[in-house]
Amino acid sequence: MERTFVAVKPDGVQRQLVGEILWRFESKGFKLVGLKLIHPSRELAENHYDVHRERPFFGSLVEFITSGPVVAMVWEGYGVVASARKMIGATNPLTSEPGTIRGDFGVNIGRNLIHGSDAVETAQKEIALWFKDDELVSWEPTI
Ligand code: CMP
Repeated sequence: MERTFVAVKPDGVQRQLVGEILWRFESKGFKLVGLKLIHPSRELAENHYDVHRERPFFGSLVEFITSGPVVAMVWEGYGVVASARKMIGATNPLTSEPGTIRGDFGVNIGRNLIHGSDAVETAQKEIALWFKDDELVSWEPTI
């Protein structure tokens, strides 16, 4: 079953949007299989954003993501990687569609509330970076 990595960034935590974001993914029908509040180290942040290392905003991106706690999540479901990206919205909240998380709550590209893996392969890498195997829980509904 497909899994994706989603993180509520420090601005999303500070704006108390964690419940809203969890609610959106749960309501959509995706299954939560990993969840933790973590203040990321510089090493973790630099690894996570390694692909952006040469970008001019890399330093401020790492600075920001390490500035406070992040809610790291793993969601499971058919097509969850692409669907989560759609629910999150375009990178720049000024142009993301209303109805998406960034479109509804964000205005700043550097403070865009939430991250979601961009492809299945990236998701696998990001999940392995943020979670140990025994922090992920496989479960089936019993009700
Ligand atoms: P995210 O989905 O976490 O992936 C990379 C992040 O880099 C992105 O969200 C933005 O927060 C950030 N980012 C992308 N472009 C810019 C930019 N031009 N200026 C500042 N931050 C950016």
